[in-house]
Amino acid sequence: MTAVGIDAMEIWTGKLKLDLAETFAPAQGDDPGKYTKGLGLHASSFPDVHEDIVTMAANAAHRLMERKGLEPADIGRIDVATESSFDNSKPVSTYVAGCLEKVYDGDFHHANKGERKFACIAGTQSLDDAYNWIRAGRNRGRAAIVIATDTALYARDDPGEATQGAGAVAMLVAEDPDLVELSPEQGFGSADETDFLKPNQQFPSVDGKRSVNVYLARMREALDDFASVAGEIHPEDYPLIPFHTPFPGMVRKAAALGYRHIIRDTEIEDELAEEIGYQPVPEAFDSDDEFYEAIREYTDALTETERYQAWYAETIDPTLELSRHVGNWYTGSVHIARAAGLKHAREHGRDLDGRQLLVASYGSGAQAEVHAETVVPGWEDEIAQLNVDEQVRRRYELSFEEYEQIHDVHNHDAEADADSLTEPSAEFVFDGWGRMGERTYKYID
Ligand code: CAA
Repeated sequence: MTAVGIDAMEIWTGKLKLDLAETFAPAQGDDPGKYTKGLGLHASSFPDVHEDIVTMAANAAHRLMERKGLEPADIGRIDVATESSFDNSKPVSTYVAGCLEKVYDGDFHHANKGERKFACIAGTQSLDDAYNWIRAGRNRGRAAIVIATDTALYARDDPGEATQGAGAVAMLVAEDPDLVELSPEQGFGSADETDFLKPNQQFPSVDGKRSVNVYLARMREALDDFASVAGEIHPEDYPLIPFHTPFPGMVRKAAALGYRHIIRDTEIEDELAEEIGYQPVPEAFDSDDEFYEAIREYTDALTETERYQAWYAETIDPTLELSRHVGNWYTGSVHIARAAGLKHAREHGRDLDGRQLLVASYGSGAQAEVHAETVVPGWEDEIAQLNVDEQVRRRYELSFEEYEQIHDVHNHDAEADADSLTEPSAEFVFDGWGRMGERTYKYID
């Protein structure tokens, strides 16, 4: 069976930065520790006035095509995943193709284009679509560009405001990939939930606390479903486990639940039992509440063990390194977690050739998906091409007043106008409105 997977990726962050501890917390009257320690976030990325989901997507895709020496004729599919779309009919991928056609001689008329929606998991679903298209032999030797792009904005003073972010991840999906090969096995946990939704509105309605519990419940189902098809999961078999990361604190909870769940009835649980006892079982309790309390206590004790902490430091923590500084990118979030983990591994000389990552995606509404990816020898050369650290470092740092203004500029219901805070160069920018209310774009040299 031909290997199919991610051949290369590029990341484009919104060009503005909001420092949560120094700028946001004091203005909200909050202790900075709530953000840096509790949520695990230091800063958010925001789009400048001339940026939006199209420019970030097109800029990431352009970098990808340039770096891989691709022409439009090499691409048979452009899939965009987003939950920040501004058009209920015309997909963002058509705008992206339109942008790219401004800088290439050829066009994308032959390419199938679409837009995927299922909250944050849509990025992973778009990867599936591209994978299945190639596996079905319908690609005629061409590759797919999959882009996850979002401006993850919340209404002002919503509890989610601190977790905002903006950016795009473009991935080239191809045969014989240079980065990771996708496994055919997948696990799902999916249910009709109302935890986070945008019923024809720009900013989400969120039941924050519930959304955390729904994430955990669906993720546990997806892990079980994955194990039922791929075989037992051993946490220490995977050098990195990138999770969907709305904020690192969420992954701290998901990792503890996942680890506890998959070590049940294994030699790891036996070894840890001397220190923290065995996991509680429901039969031993008179009520669900007592059982849940006992599970919480066991999980807290588990996360204090040396074995768990060593596993977390090596397998989970590196995947959070970008998220901490850019916030939630919704559809792109699990993909920057993968990138951060691989970047960290390269910088620390870890040998991942042939090793498997366990990738855990999630979208509110709600669905979790788990699959494995095999790291392809030579992956370090691909990852070394990312310039995301430089992009993150070069962001313009917003004052609180500027943040308020930028939030208004991107708020479809606010009549706000402002000049860009950064000078665009060699990139696509938002240029205004066309005769049918469409957004228009141009390339700035
Ligand atoms: N020092 C250290 N820690 C502190 C602290 C301080 N001074 N103050 C508070 N904390 C801790 C709290 O104890 C808490 O940690 P635990 O959850 O481990 O107890 C953490 O900081 C956050 O504090 P609160 O729970 O008080 O924060 P909040 O209620 O204001 O907001 C939230 C939290 C509800 C998750 C909110 O950020 C939110 O609504 N976010 C958007 C929804 C979301 O991201 N949900 C995640 C699952 S859904 C999903 O993943 C899809 C998606 O992308 C949106």
